[in-house]
Amino acid sequence: MHRTVYLNGEFLPETKAKVSIFDRGFLFADGVYEVTAVLKGRLIDNAAHLARLKRSLEELRIPVVLSDQEIISAQKILITRNNIDEGLVYLQITRGPAERNFAYPDHPKPTLVMFTQTMELINPPAARSGISVISLPDIRWLRRDIKSVGLLPASMAKQFALDAGADDAWMVEDDLVTEGTSNNAFIFTQQGVIKTRRLSNHILHGTTRSRVLRLAAEAAIEVDESPFSIKQAQEAKEAFITSATTFLLPVVNINGYPVGDGKPGPMVNKLRKAYIEAVLADAGHE
Ligand code: PDD
Repeated sequence: MHRTVYLNGEFLPETKAKVSIFDRGFLFADGVYEVTAVLKGRLIDNAAHLARLKRSLEELRIPVVLSDQEIISAQKILITRNNIDEGLVYLQITRGPAERNFAYPDHPKPTLVMFTQTMELINPPAARSGISVISLPDIRWLRRDIKSVGLLPASMAKQFALDAGADDAWMVEDDLVTEGTSNNAFIFTQQGVIKTRRLSNHILHGTTRSRVLRLAAEAAIEVDESPFSIKQAQEAKEAFITSATTFLLPVVNINGYPVGDGKPGPMVNKLRKAYIEAVLADAGHE
């Protein structure tokens, strides 16, 4: 059975949804996206995703074609039609089709696509085993705060990590970790302080990051928003990543060097549990 997907106001079987070869998303990676997790059939932290979507669109001057309410209602229809209990809704807006020209078209007709994927979120094997990362130079552009569909450098880094036998890459700039290929990077120092880069154009402003920092504040865990090196991460008590689809995952090995005792630690496990409880309690109330 084919999934139902959304394309420019229509709900279609996935094989029937077609986008022009002149679409600027295809020709220039001229578009932005959001990935919202779904738990128990409900959208998780969707308001934060829609706020970031609006900001990404504004930064690129791509016109907003649907209201938040219209987007939410389409997301919910897809969840219901595709029977998604645990998974995600992907949403992408490009500047749409135009004659190939580097300049933006005068009257853009944005393309809006949404589809769902089923995914194990609450209990994936990586939550029990932790993940390994290798460090790689961050070769991405300097507007990483825009959630652009220009993901080739991140995709190359992920593949390089997999080929090297690791699960993901932490990208490094000026000897300091920026973030993972599709997640934000954190450590717990030996003093139990959470360290993660402050928000800037060097990283994506993660929705999960922001909720985790709120939960840390509630639990009276000290947070130091400053960057760290690979060496500092290897010497940390625990390390972890966050994203909408991984929640928090322990990082247990960096460049072949175990973090702590090389197993998921109690502080990350506790925060992951608190995160799942908090988002489930909020789900469906936005
Ligand atoms: N990625 N940093 C990067 C580069 C990302 O691509 C992502 C998300 C994050 C975490 O953001 P959030 O917590 O809002 O998901 C950080 C999504 C999940 C993806 O591309 O699939």
